[in-house]
Amino acid sequence: MLTAIWGRDSTGKSTLSDALGGLLAKRSVTAILDTDLTQPTLPQRVNGKKLSGDTSLGKAISGGITSDIAHYLHRHPRRKGLFYAGLTDADEYMTYEIGLEAKDAAQDLISQCTGLADTVILDLSGQRTDPFIPCALARAEKVIVLITPDVQGVCWFNAVKPLLEAMDAQGRVLPVASMIDRHAVDAVEKALDLRFVAKLPYVRELRQIRDTGADPLDGATRAAARYAKQVRTLCGLLKEVGT
Ligand SMILES: Nc1ncnc2c1ncn2[C@@H]1O[C@H](COP(=O)(O)OP(=O)(O)OP(=O)(O)O)[C@@H](O)[C@H]1O
Ligand SMILES: [Mg+2]
Repeated sequence: MLTAIWGRDSTGKSTLSDALGGLLAKRSVTAILDTDLTQPTLPQRVNGKKLSGDTSLGKAISGGITSDIAHYLHRHPRRKGLFYAGLTDADEYMTYEIGLEAKDAAQDLISQCTGLADTVILDLSGQRTDPFIPCALARAEKVIVLITPDVQGVCWFNAVKPLLEAMDAQGRVLPVASMIDRHAVDAVEKALDLRFVAKLPYVRELRQIRDTGADPLDGATRAAARYAKQVRTLCGLLKEVGT
C-alpha cells in the first residue's frame, strides 16, 4: 500500500506519518520516506541512532553509492517493523538542491520501496519542486491532504486543486483538517466543497513529544487523546484500502 501525506509547510505531516506509521507497523513492515531534501530529518525520526551520510535519501536520489533502497532505510530503534529514509546530519545536505528533474529517480526509489515494505508512507515536503510529488500524486492509493482550517489553508488547497486534477488524484484524496484550535471547520468544508475524513486538534504537547522521539499517540492530555482517536480513524480508512 502506498500512501502520500501532503500539505503546506509545518502543518503536521511528519507527526501524522509517525503516528500512522507506528500503528501500521504493528502488523506489517512500514517505510516512511521523508522527502524534505533541504535539511536533516532523520535524527529526529530515528532518535538516538548513529547515521552515516552515505545512507541519506539525498545520496540515494543524487546517484548514491548503491541503487539498492534497502541501504537507505533505517530501522526505528524501538518500533519493530518501522523504517525511515530521509536526510542525515552527517551528509552534505546543501549539495542536494534537487528539484523536479529528479522525478524519475524519485519514482524508482518509491517503486523499490513498495517492493520491500508492505506499506510505504510518502511524507512529502511542502516544496512545490519536491521530486517525489509527481509520483506520489499519480500512484498513491490514498493522498492524505492536511489543510489548516484558516485562510492560508483554504488558499493553499485552492492553489493545488488544479495539480490534483491534472494528476487525476482527486478521487484518491483524503482531506484532513489539521491543528484545529477553535476554528470554524464547517465553514471551511463549505468553502472548499469537501468533507474532512478526520479532524486533528491542535495539541500543544506534540512539539515536546516530537523532540523526545516518543510516539505521537502517547500524549496524556484530552487534546492528545482526541488526536489519537482521529489518527486511528484515519488508519482504519487506510487499512480498508490495503485489504
Ligand atoms: N496537531 C498538532 N498540534 C500542535 N502541534 C503540532 C501538531 N502536529 C504537529 N505539531 C508540531 O508542529 C511542528 C511541525 O510539525 P511537523 O514537523 O509534523 O510538520 P510538517 O508538515 O511535517 O513540516 P514540514 O513541512 O517542515 O515537513 C512540530 O513541532 C510538531 O511537533
Ligand atoms: Mg515534515
